Amino acid sequence: MSEKLNNIEQELISYLPEKDEYIKNLVDSMEYSLTAGGKRIRPMLVLEFAKLCGGKEEAAMPFACALEMIHTYSLIHDDLPCMDNDDLRRGKPTNHKVFGEACALLAGSGLLTLAFETASSEKSVALNGTEKCLSAIKVLSQIAGAEGMLGGQIIDLESEGKKVDVEHLKVMDSKKTGALIIGAAKLGCISAGATEQQMNAAVSYAEKIGLVFQIVDDVLDITSSTEKLGKPVGSDSENEKSTYAALLGIEECMSISRKLTEEAVACLELFDEDTTALKEFAYFLLNREN
Ligand code: IPE
Ligand code: IPE
Ligand code: MG
Ligand code: MG
Ligand code: MG
Repeated sequence: MSEKLNNIEQELISYLPEKDEYIKNLVDSMEYSLTAGGKRIRPMLVLEFAKLCGGKEEAAMPFACALEMIHTYSLIHDDLPCMDNDDLRRGKPTNHKVFGEACALLAGSGLLTLAFETASSEKSVALNGTEKCLSAIKVLSQIAGAEGMLGGQIIDLESEGKKVDVEHLKVMDSKKTGALIIGAAKLGCISAGATEQQMNAAVSYAEKIGLVFQIVDDVLDITSSTEKLGKPVGSDSENEKSTYAALLGIEECMSISRKLTEEAVACLELFDEDTTALKEFAYFLLNREN
């Protein structure tokens, strides 16, 4: 596990642009958020699914890094004053607090575009071939775009201060957070050349753990501490966010999450290979404290 994490950290940095004196501030700002830590659950998931479907970690790595870049960009923008207006991220002051709003906006956009450069890099093409790279780029565009994460973010913002039902929350979370996690499963499968059946099982697993991930995130915003989370607790209630936790309460949320985790683990039965790591991963996301 930790060796994989180490490899992800090393590889992520390797894709950052040179610090040409004219653009140094922008690259510093991109590097600041990209190297600020984070659990790296999305790239880990890419690598795990690639392995499960008989692929190579080295080949899946550019796709894994591209996804983590998009995730990091989404966090920089999510924290901006015009969105969640948060001051702390990954245990450090948020990007706009250090570099200013305009630079944070550009750093986010810089990481988004770097993701596509990474997925289509010479290294990625040499390891995966053009066809898989093209499929990966299509997936990255879809999960990050208006029908994916961005769509979820607008639903989130437009739901502030409103009474919405569970179905609405499910749609919001499946896009806001689910899309990138589903993307992780797909990218691992693409790199490995998985069968359609394997891809479908991977996506079903990811849909379920993706929803659990956001429900638990909302619960932790209430039950955890800023020290443990590395981001401010109470942010959701301050912004009058519509969340599962606000609507159903903590216990109901955890009960739904436990059930979804069991269902996710059941989706892994289709695979012949050892799925222990992905089982543990699902329970880690359910029981996490940060
Ligand atoms: C936080 O994601 C944003 C959500 C989608 C809830 P993570 O909890 O994966 O954040 P990092 O990458 O570990 O900082
Ligand atoms: C944001 O959800 C999900 C993203 C697309 C970044 P949150 O707003 O709940 O994420 P945190 O709690 O700030 O990490
Ligand atoms: Mg948000
Ligand atoms: Mg937020
Ligand atoms: Mg949150």
